[in-house]
Amino acid sequence: MFDLDETDRLLATTRSVRRRLDLERPVEREVLLDCIRLAVQAPTGGNAQTWRWLIVDDPDTKAQLGELYQRMAGRYLGSYRRDAMSDQTTRVLDSADFLAEVLGQVPAMVIPCIRGRLADTSPVSAASFYGSIIPAVWSFQLALRSRGLGTCFTTLHLAHETEAAELLGVPDDVTQVCLLPVAYTKGDEFSPAERGPVERITYFDRWKGRWDR
Ligand SMILES: Cc1cc2nc3c(=O)[nH]c(=O)nc-3n(C[C@H](O)[C@H](O)[C@H](O)COP(=O)(O)O)c2cc1C
Repeated sequence: MFDLDETDRLLATTRSVRRRLDLERPVEREVLLDCIRLAVQAPTGGNAQTWRWLIVDDPDTKAQLGELYQRMAGRYLGSYRRDAMSDQTTRVLDSADFLAEVLGQVPAMVIPCIRGRLADTSPVSAASFYGSIIPAVWSFQLALRSRGLGTCFTTLHLAHETEAAELLGVPDDVTQVCLLPVAYTKGDEFSPAERGPVERITYFDRWKGRWDR
């Protein structure tokens, strides 16, 4: 049996870490390999395991990826800002702006890749394609957290996926799924996020009522 308190704490407190990434402390490649070793225990459609994990710790390459990310972040995050925003939205946007500024300086970036391109958006294809890597990505994030490191699932550099692929030598028939900035965290106390009651979003046996947010 597992220690439920510990596993529940891990699951409830693995947050998107941006401001508390320690940019000064190097991340050992061996730790990243350990986390990938755990991540690849995740399920894949047909047990395909058609993934590759790109670790980037070369300063010039990180800086160039940071620049690609920033190009999209400037446009995208700015478009989200409104005069009247909840405190939580303001906090997330401020934190996302901060990450965009420092992304090129994180100790390591991990780019999980999957072979193929999303051929069509039929429900089976789309679910199988991304469903065969995102569970592993989340396991990787959990493995980092349990070792005192943190990350944040990011997608904005994908607006310039081709440029990133050229920079990294990624073949045309491979899809980059996200970019994970990885660092040790400053402190390791993280709190569960506020989420609504699951009873409101869970139905038994049959869909209930209209979508009410
Ligand atoms: C599909 C996906 C894409 C995301 N893309 C970005 C991103 O490009 N940049 C970023 O700073 N955060 C990104 N996030 C992180 C979310 O903003 C974050 O998960 C959300 O604010 C909830 O915070 P929490 O993970 O701490 O609960 C992404 C998350 C997901 C699942």
